Amino acid sequence: MKLLQEGFEVVGLDNINDYYSPQLKYARLREAGIRKELIKWYQLVQSSASSRYRFVRMNLEDKQQLFSLFQSERFDYVINLAAQAGVRYSIENPDVYVQSNIIGFHYVLEACRYFPPRHLVHASSSSVYGANAKIPFLEEDKADSPMSLYAATKKGNELMAHAYSHLYNIPITCLRFFTVYGPWGRPDMAPMLFARAIHEGEPIQVFNNGDMERDFTFVGDIVEGVAQTMLAGFEQEPQYRVLNIGNGSPVNLMKFIEELEVSMGARAIKHFLPMQAGDVPRTWASRKNLEKITHYKPQVALSAGIREFARWYLEYSSQLAAFHA
Ligand SMILES: NC(=O)c1ccc[n+]([C@@H]2O[C@H](COP(=O)([O-])OP(=O)(O)OC[C@H]3O[C@@H](n4cnc5c(N)ncnc54)[C@H](O)[C@@H]3O)[C@@H](O)[C@H]2O)c1
Repeated sequence: MKLLQEGFEVVGLDNINDYYSPQLKYARLREAGIRKELIKWYQLVQSSASSRYRFVRMNLEDKQQLFSLFQSERFDYVINLAAQAGVRYSIENPDVYVQSNIIGFHYVLEACRYFPPRHLVHASSSSVYGANAKIPFLEEDKADSPMSLYAATKKGNELMAHAYSHLYNIPITCLRFFTVYGPWGRPDMAPMLFARAIHEGEPIQVFNNGDMERDFTFVGDIVEGVAQTMLAGFEQEPQYRVLNIGNGSPVNLMKFIEELEVSMGARAIKHFLPMQAGDVPRTWASRKNLEKITHYKPQVALSAGIREFARWYLEYSSQLAAFHA
């Protein structure tokens, strides 16, 4: 939406996989004027909400199809958000992470090699910092001890991107996202899991006995930062950089739950558990490098962001059973 408002023509791509409810993915697409009945594999669908938005259902790993798309559209900018996300799921289902995040991303890079955009922006993750104890996390910090395969694929993406940028002169930015929350978020992440449990009077699972901190970042701030990064040029070679994108102020998990209780108008039943495999106790983004090249400044304070998220959750709660399926 942000890019459409700024006058860009946009093509969205997603394979609409069932890692979490496809109903939620279709509902998001509906908001953008793309009706489920019109979606067919590899066929561009025109949005009814904007003449400048089209969507295609496709796997990144479908090399020939991806190449045809890049060849016919000749994108000026490519933003790759598609990936198999989730730290915990990567422990049970490693194969799909290699499939989507390594092979799929490799084809994105190959497509950019043959049909070069002005800039490729790729979603990396704060998880590459592993159990980094030095705070806040700086891009210069050591980030080569991932705690999960998910994190390893994201770090691998950064290295692959560097090689392609160097070899083929493709301008690339890898943005390390820090825990994104807000309306239309992922149902496997804590905010949605907590909201559902609070709403339905069920217990929430609080890992590491609540002794965790996350640099929760409101989705609207992420959108703004990604759009600004896309347009930010490179002053020198190599045209490659890694940047954090986060709120820059970590929040204790118990504080997050308290704010959510206030906004949902109900108390959480807390079930305290030990730390989960692959998880890290704290994330905290330094914003200084992103702020040097953009005007990025998070605008949404935690309480306002949670209010907005809870408002959305309660408005959509009747449909949310399907979204959680
Ligand atoms: N949400 C966060 O807090 C967070 C934090 C760090 C990094 N990230 C990264 O940001 C990006 C977006 O995250 P999100 O939370 O919106 O995740 P998401 O799972 O909601 O979105 C990713 C989308 O990619 C699609 N996809 C997966 N594999 C694909 C493939 N092989 N081909 C085509 N489409 C495919 C999925 O269907 C999904 O809709 C991801 O790369 C994620 O790893 C997110």
